[in-house]
Amino acid sequence: MRWNRRVNFAVACGATAVVLGPLIWLWQASLLPGTHSAMDMGYADHGGGPVGSSVTHGGHGQHATAQRSVMALIADPRRTADVAVTLTARKEPFRLPSGRVVDGYTLNGRSPGPDIRATAGQLVQVRLVNESVPEGVTLHWHGVDVPNAGDGVAGVTQDAVGVGEEYTYRFVADQAGTFWYHSHQVSHEQVRGGLLGTVVVTLAEQAAEVVDVAALVHLYDGARTVNGREGDLQVEVAPGKRARVRVINTENAPMSAWVAGAPFRLVAVDGTDLNGPTPVQDTGVLVTAGGRADLEVTMPEDGSPVRVHLGGSVAVVLGSKSYDAPLGRRPTTTLDLLSYGTKAPLGFAPDRPDRRFEYMIGRRPGFLDGRPGLWWTVNGHLFPDVPMFVVSEGDVVRMRISNHSGEGHPMHLHGHHALVLSRNGVSTSGSPWWVDSLDVGDGESYDIAFVADNPGIWMDHCHNLPHAAEGLVAHLMYEGVTTPFALGGPAGNEPE
Ligand code: C2O
Ligand code: CU
Repeated sequence: MRWNRRVNFAVACGATAVVLGPLIWLWQASLLPGTHSAMDMGYADHGGGPVGSSVTHGGHGQHATAQRSVMALIADPRRTADVAVTLTARKEPFRLPSGRVVDGYTLNGRSPGPDIRATAGQLVQVRLVNESVPEGVTLHWHGVDVPNAGDGVAGVTQDAVGVGEEYTYRFVADQAGTFWYHSHQVSHEQVRGGLLGTVVVTLAEQAAEVVDVAALVHLYDGARTVNGREGDLQVEVAPGKRARVRVINTENAPMSAWVAGAPFRLVAVDGTDLNGPTPVQDTGVLVTAGGRADLEVTMPEDGSPVRVHLGGSVAVVLGSKSYDAPLGRRPTTTLDLLSYGTKAPLGFAPDRPDRRFEYMIGRRPGFLDGRPGLWWTVNGHLFPDVPMFVVSEGDVVRMRISNHSGEGHPMHLHGHHALVLSRNGVSTSGSPWWVDSLDVGDGESYDIAFVADNPGIWMDHCHNLPHAAEGLVAHLMYEGVTTPFALGGPAGNEPE
């Protein structure tokens, strides 16, 4: 009997060890070190391209690429700025025009921060000063393909700017379009709290007869706002005249935009003009989280106002004599960008890629920095054991993003615009559709392609920012580019 009990006890202990041992090991293995480099994160994925041409051993690497620091990837230092702005960040409560007090963050005393406007080709210089944000701040130029040193990712392209410190961003605004800026330090918290603003780049020769309206949509404490106001934004547009409404979705979820009172054309997505967009009516446009959609409306000749709905609770009302625009009905159809507009030359050959990558999003139980939970996975791996997509300058890169995680994800690649080739195996038949933010629904897969023409180390992450903080993050890294910055460390770098 006794002997039996002892055996039972031993078996129980053994079973416990068998179950707990690996769990403890998994828990321990998931703990993030106090500081770690994005360069050593996870594992390198070369996408079928050449491996390690940048690694030199004892000077024998004939094919070696010279090593370059992200700090050297800058705009021409001899050029003087055409647009120069200083933005001072503070952690402080502020009041929206509605009177609502938000305990968040400001830039130059307001949120959203000042609009930054430039004409294509101008050099933009923004000096960021942190007056009182204890966790530090940065600014990322969402959708602007800046040189890497100006990308604003704490721990990858710079250290978070501490209280009393500053950092200067310089980039040429090559591409006319609608963009935005936001902090990329503790971004799930700082973007929500108001460290953001609009960037609009126009063509010098842009038709003056088009009324240009930027409409930045943001949730402050759950209240939807357009340019910081909770009601309608009224803009005067004369009968028969055109308006371009630049919708910027800074929320974590996709938003529908639609127009009541006139047809409209979707003229640009993510800062890139569409080719041959035709007028549509009773149709919504899905604006990806982090994404932009430019809607062009021609005002009715009879002077009646037009309502551009932004998610349903706020609107831009275009009018002249009256702004009493009817609400209209919420459309039941959504514009499909796979077939909208007409084809145009692409300027590169996505069918002959130098590298092919998979970005497969899933979800499984595990430990993230010691916390047990149901976490996002990239190609089956949990953060930080995520792929580092390695490319060489000039490569044509294809990527398949697929999602079987039970939720949709707005995927955002820094520093590049990617062309959508197909969704769920169905090829595009409309205008070239270039994105920097792509809504990938649960069960969907997209094939995209881009040219690796902007050397650096670039985040490629979910723009539902709490998801990024939960580890839905990978990086695109060019051979030979290194960073002296690290996550964690004395600057407390925490980009997500
Ligand atoms: Cu708009 Cu990595 O961010
Ligand atoms: Cu997500």
